[in-house]
Amino acid sequence: MKVTVVGAGAVGASCAEYIAMKNFCSEVVLVDIKEGFAEGKAMDLMQTASLNGFDTKITGTTGDYSKTAGSDVAVITSGIPRKPGMTREELIGINAGIVKDVTANLVKHSPNVTIIVVSNPMDTMAYLVHKTSGLPKHKIIGMGGALDSARFKYRLAEALEAPISDVDGMVIAAHSDTGMLPLLSKATRNGVPVTSFLTEEQQAYVVEETKVGGATLTKLLGTSAWYAPGAAVSVMVQAIACDQKKMIPCSLMLDGEYGQSDICLGVPAIIGKNGVEKIVEIELTEAEKEKFATAAAAVREVNGDLKF
Ligand code: NAI
Repeated sequence: MKVTVVGAGAVGASCAEYIAMKNFCSEVVLVDIKEGFAEGKAMDLMQTASLNGFDTKITGTTGDYSKTAGSDVAVITSGIPRKPGMTREELIGINAGIVKDVTANLVKHSPNVTIIVVSNPMDTMAYLVHKTSGLPKHKIIGMGGALDSARFKYRLAEALEAPISDVDGMVIAAHSDTGMLPLLSKATRNGVPVTSFLTEEQQAYVVEETKVGGATLTKLLGTSAWYAPGAAVSVMVQAIACDQKKMIPCSLMLDGEYGQSDICLGVPAIIGKNGVEKIVEIELTEAEKEKFATAAAAVREVNGDLKF
C-alpha cells in the first residue's frame, strides 16, 4: 500500500506520522510546494522510526509527482486556512486552484488512486475533485465527519464524566460551524441513549461545543488543529488499506440519498478497499432532516462560487 500526502504542513505531517506509526502501509510520500519542506519533514519522521517501532518508508518531494506514481490512496491537505480580512470567495479561489492542480497531478501518475480531501472548505473541495478528477465517485472521500465525531465523543464523555470508550456518537451534514449536525438522538453510553443521562442544558452544551470545536482550537492555537485531523485521516486510510468495511461519516457525492443530489455532504458510509463501499441511510428525526437540508443549502451556495 502506497499513500501520498500532499501538503507537508501541520495536518499533512500529522497524517503521515499517524499512518506510519500504525504500520499498515509500506510507503508514504509527502509532497509540498515549499522547497525542501516535504523532504525535511519526511527525514525527521523517518528518524522516529527506530524509536517508535515502525517500518513504513516515508519520503518527501518538492512537487515531483512522478515520485507519487502508483499510489493507492492520496490525501490532499494542501491549501491555506482562512485568515482575518479574507473573503470566503478569496479563500475558495486560492484553495480551489491548489486542489484542482494537485488533483490533476495525482490522477496523472496514479489513475486508480482513491483521494481523501481535507483542504477547506472541505465539502466544496470534495465536490471540486468530483467535478475535475474524472475518478469514479466511490474513490473520492471528504474528511470531516470522522474528526467532528471524535470531537463530539470528547464533549459527550466530558459532560457524562465517562471514559471516552464508553460513548458513541456521530456527526453528519456539513463540515462547518453552522452546518454540522451532531446526532444527539443516536448517541449512546454503552448502548443507552445519552439523552437519558444529560439535562437539556448539558445536551445543548455538547452540541454547541462540538460545532465550534475547530474554532475553539484555532483561537487557542492561533492556527487550526492537526493531531485529531491527522488521526482521523489515518483511520480512513487504514479502513481502505486493511479493507475494514468500517462505518465512518464522510463527505460524499450524494445521488438522492438523504434527499440531496449533486452535492458532497457528510453521511455515514462503509469504507473498505474500494473506497466508499456503501452509503448508509439512517432514519433522522424531522428536526434533523430540516437541519440537514439547511446545511445542504449553505454548501450549495459556497459551491456556486467555484469556477471549473
Ligand atoms: P499548513 O499551512 O500548515 O500546511 C499547508 C501546506 O500546503 C503548506 O506546507 C504549503 O506549503 C502546502 N501547499 C500549498 N500549496 C501547495 C501545492 N500547490 N502543492 C503542494 N503543497 C502545497 O496548513 P494546515 O494546518 O496543514 O491545513 C491544511 C488545510 O487543511 C487547510 O485548508 C485547513 O483549513 C484544512 N483542514 C481541514 C480539516 C478537516 O477536518 N477537513 C481539519 C484541519 C485543517
